[in-house]
Amino acid sequence: MADQEQLPKADPRTWTTEALAARLAELDKAYFQRGESLIPDAAYDRLKDELRRRDPAHPALASVGAPTESEPGDKVEHAQAMLSLDKCTTFAEFWAWYRGALAGTTDRANSLRLDDEAIAWSATPQGALVAVPKIDGLACSLRYDRTGRLLRAATRGDGRIGEDVTVNARKVPTVVQQLPADRPGDGDLEVRGEIYLPLSRFAAVADSYANPRNLAAGTLKAKENPAIDPGWLAFFAYDLLGAPSASESSKLETLARMGFAVPAWQKVLAPEAQRTFDQFDAARPTDEFEADGIVLRLDDCALAQRLGVTAHHPRGAIAWKYAASADTTTLQSVHWSVARTGTITPVALVAPVNLSGATVTRATLHNLSNLRRLALRPGDVVEIVRRGGVIPHVERVVTPSDEPLCEPPTACPSCGTTTRVVARDDGKGKAVEILVCGDPANCITARQRTLLHYCQALELEGFGDKVVEVLIDQGLCDNPADLYELTADDLLPLPRFGELLVANLLGQIAKARRVELPAFLVALGIAALGKQTAQLLSSRGDLAAVRAMDAEQVAQLHSLGDKTAAAIVAGLSDKAELIDALLRHVEVVRPAAVERAGAGPMAGEVVVFTGALPSMGRRDAQQLVVRLGGIAGDSVTAETTLLVVGGDELDAAEPSSKLKKARKLQASGGAIRIERADAFFARVAEAS
Ligand code: IVH
Repeated sequence: MADQEQLPKADPRTWTTEALAARLAELDKAYFQRGESLIPDAAYDRLKDELRRRDPAHPALASVGAPTESEPGDKVEHAQAMLSLDKCTTFAEFWAWYRGALAGTTDRANSLRLDDEAIAWSATPQGALVAVPKIDGLACSLRYDRTGRLLRAATRGDGRIGEDVTVNARKVPTVVQQLPADRPGDGDLEVRGEIYLPLSRFAAVADSYANPRNLAAGTLKAKENPAIDPGWLAFFAYDLLGAPSASESSKLETLARMGFAVPAWQKVLAPEAQRTFDQFDAARPTDEFEADGIVLRLDDCALAQRLGVTAHHPRGAIAWKYAASADTTTLQSVHWSVARTGTITPVALVAPVNLSGATVTRATLHNLSNLRRLALRPGDVVEIVRRGGVIPHVERVVTPSDEPLCEPPTACPSCGTTTRVVARDDGKGKAVEILVCGDPANCITARQRTLLHYCQALELEGFGDKVVEVLIDQGLCDNPADLYELTADDLLPLPRFGELLVANLLGQIAKARRVELPAFLVALGIAALGKQTAQLLSSRGDLAAVRAMDAEQVAQLHSLGDKTAAAIVAGLSDKAELIDALLRHVEVVRPAAVERAGAGPMAGEVVVFTGALPSMGRRDAQQLVVRLGGIAGDSVTAETTLLVVGGDELDAAEPSSKLKKARKLQASGGAIRIERADAFFARVAEAS
């Protein structure tokens, strides 16, 4: 070899092999992808000759002449087949696999089929398992050359031959482009894992695409204009080929060290696998990926190697699947459900199907746009998905029937008024078409919902679907204000309205003659006016003051946007007639918390209750305080003047947090008093 000291730096003989390969790769890329020659051909040849002299089999040489950046869709033969996994769905099936697997590892096969021997074996290092979530994405193989450079990314395909996806995979942030120098082995490496679309990303486009898996696949395989930025995708690594690993767990550690994202994994004792399965299952709602089960692998790689593979799967691993959250069934019809606001929403009625342990017969279709996209026909075989435990929805049509398309009704199914189609923002900035009743104010179902909502908002017991339906059908209640004019004589003749029921209903109505402002506002059923907003508004004054506010003033309330503010003001003015009618029967009061102390025996007191009260419920006790001129609070603060303690809490070993806080305030010189509930009520009875 030449004396390196004497050679100029540009001479390739002074370079490390790694630097040579990296430079060649860079030059190849420029030449084959962009048609650029970065250096003269002769200089290029010298680099190549030097590398060839040192290592004739170097992959950087093989890549010359064949562009590394192949086209998406090109066929790629896998160096080692990408197999599938054996499956099970219960602990019993899992355990049978485990015993069978371990029987294959020993010549004492028969005796090891005994449970107690299997249990003993499971506690040895050889019997250990590793559990990993089974991610419902796209299996992907990443090949790296011996310089650690990403050469090729390919899908699984049929297991033997996959599709080239290098161009798009390079844009995935968690696909490592260059392995660090301290990687294992000294040759090519292959990393296998799953490409998926994180669910928070999918949420932003969920209405336009069927599911995250298909969207990820489409994006990864796209030749041009992928539907979403491939940079949104993510990669989880679970396998490493080309460098020997002693165990699956050390393999996962190596992958993580090389910069790969690795799914949260656990070492598992086989007899306790059920607990592991349940833990992974419970974590699913907060996971950023969809998982359809867990993968359990023998930790000991040598053992797994000895067990070998079938044509379909390795014997040393199994997928324990979660209860199916997607299945096919038949569409029977589309039901149109009329909401309180007059929106008419399509719902698919389907033949019963079991999804994650629940029988499903209805699946949401969201809105008219979505129904049209699916082009549903009665008799279609459809796929129903219950994602993350939420309301099941129709994912897609698997086999269309030849019945006519399901069309939206031209007349409201509840009141018969001509329906209208309106464009709405779906809340995510996308316009969707929805069907609405042409006259929601008069629509029976809409009225029914309005009344039901009013009763629910005021917590009127007994006013459920059936009672409300009868009241409306009989023409007794056109709007919530009519409730207050109901008499026993109106109600007793109704079918199944016995004396007891009627007495209860009238008692509830009497209770609803005095209503706190926030509840009253919510009960009006204005879409933009929920509980929290109502509380905000109530903090600004009484009902008259709230009604007098304009959109600008409402918008100035903390966290309310212009749109919401405008909707609230418009809603209050739409409901002016109803509000006036209600005010003929209802006294609307400021809630205890915002009522300012006036005159009365309890003026100046700020009272908080804790523990079980002897003679009345806590709400009633708070109202009593307010009636006597005091303020009733929910939590102990520096302003609290009196803590009333019920039950035997004062003597309890573990005082409530309110009591602890009150004692602390006392200790630091606070003015708060602590009084037993029975003493308090006796005192109050005397005073009032
Ligand atoms: S281990 C022999 N681990 O499931 C295959 N596979 O049915 C060994 N998959 O297409 C694979 N998450 O892509 C393994 N954590 C995980 C996985 C996982 C998803 C996929 C895999 C393969 C399929 C096997």
